[in-house]
Amino acid sequence: MKLTKLTAALCASVAMPAMATELEVTHWWTSGGEAAAVAELAKAFDASGDKWIDGAIAGGGGTARPIMISRITGGDPMGATQFNHGQQALELVEAGLMLDLTDVAEANNWKEIVYPPSLLDACTVDGKIYCAPVNIHSPEWLWLSNKVYEDIGIPVPKDWNEFVATAPQVEAAGKIPLALGNQPWQSNLAFGAMQIAVAGLDAWKAVNVDKNMDVAAGPEYAKVFQAAADARKLAAKSTVQDWNQATNLVITDEAAGQIMGDWAQGEFQVANEVAGKDYTCLPGLGLNEYISTGGDAFYFPKLDDPEKEAAQKRLAALLVSPEVQVAFNLKKGSLPIRGDIDLSAANDCMKKGLEILAGGNIVPSGDMNWNPDVQKQAEDLMVEFWKSDMPAEEAQAKWVEILKSGL
Ligand code: GAL
Repeated sequence: MKLTKLTAALCASVAMPAMATELEVTHWWTSGGEAAAVAELAKAFDASGDKWIDGAIAGGGGTARPIMISRITGGDPMGATQFNHGQQALELVEAGLMLDLTDVAEANNWKEIVYPPSLLDACTVDGKIYCAPVNIHSPEWLWLSNKVYEDIGIPVPKDWNEFVATAPQVEAAGKIPLALGNQPWQSNLAFGAMQIAVAGLDAWKAVNVDKNMDVAAGPEYAKVFQAAADARKLAAKSTVQDWNQATNLVITDEAAGQIMGDWAQGEFQVANEVAGKDYTCLPGLGLNEYISTGGDAFYFPKLDDPEKEAAQKRLAALLVSPEVQVAFNLKKGSLPIRGDIDLSAANDCMKKGLEILAGGNIVPSGDMNWNPDVQKQAEDLMVEFWKSDMPAEEAQAKWVEILKSGL
């Protein structure tokens, strides 16, 4: 949609401010693809008559979130901030530090348009809505370099098992089988993807929804930890830090594959790589095509300034609007949070995600099932496991103890 039409549409849908109100917006979107996507949000907010002051924080969510939280609790709040869907801002909301957006949600029918409804549930505390969901990201994808397999003369793997089976040929060709960055959340993400792919959805739900510790300690999950031990070997030569550096190893055909969320799409797009032609995406690692509705939402700290508060509410409405949803999600590689928009420009991988979403093969994101403390401990265990030669059985036993602490 052309910017001029977009401006007209937005003027019609939100009250145009007399003069631009500046809002500082913090987020951790600093990779090429992420920056291209967040630029769409800034452009739309500026075009609507207000002013987006970008507060990008490098280092990923694990670095950014403590900074965001300490600014809000320390009396130096920003105008808006990214958090993931789930419980990350719950304590801030319960402390009365965050702006109630229920009036914006009601005026714009969020309850009818946001899909799946679980995204809005994650924003709702005591019946009030405190965040604007902006996308659906699913971590459970395997991204493959077609060229690595074409050069070896073998077919691109159709699933995780074929990927592991052909890894010796990839290594013999001097390539890294699995690219993985050295940050806690990345090894945790890979483990999360393997849970559903290798153990299956029933076992995943037994553990993460029903909190069944017998299943967590049982044979299905023993296979998951064995797969993680396989992956650890295949990623041994991946020495990069950030997730997008690992994606770049696949883009430049130095590595055969990466388990990463579909935000990796943004990197392939910025590198002008074409889904299906240059790279292959396997949701559910090609084994169990379920996607969890992770992703991002924006929260708005109370600023005790009526003019700023009005601008915060204008921004919240804008983020959920159809035009911004299309412009942002196409660049971000994520799926929109509403089902009533035209994503005809979506590429093969996004179309796969939309089909899975439409088919209802959705699992609630892990963020929504375990409290942040349990998640942190599980992350730390994964870092220890992936950096050591800890046996799979020992890792499974330790993991079960961590989950039990969150019951
Ligand atoms: C996730 C976030 C994504 C992406 C990713 C890597 O938590 O939902 O939008 O940015 O981090 O930074």
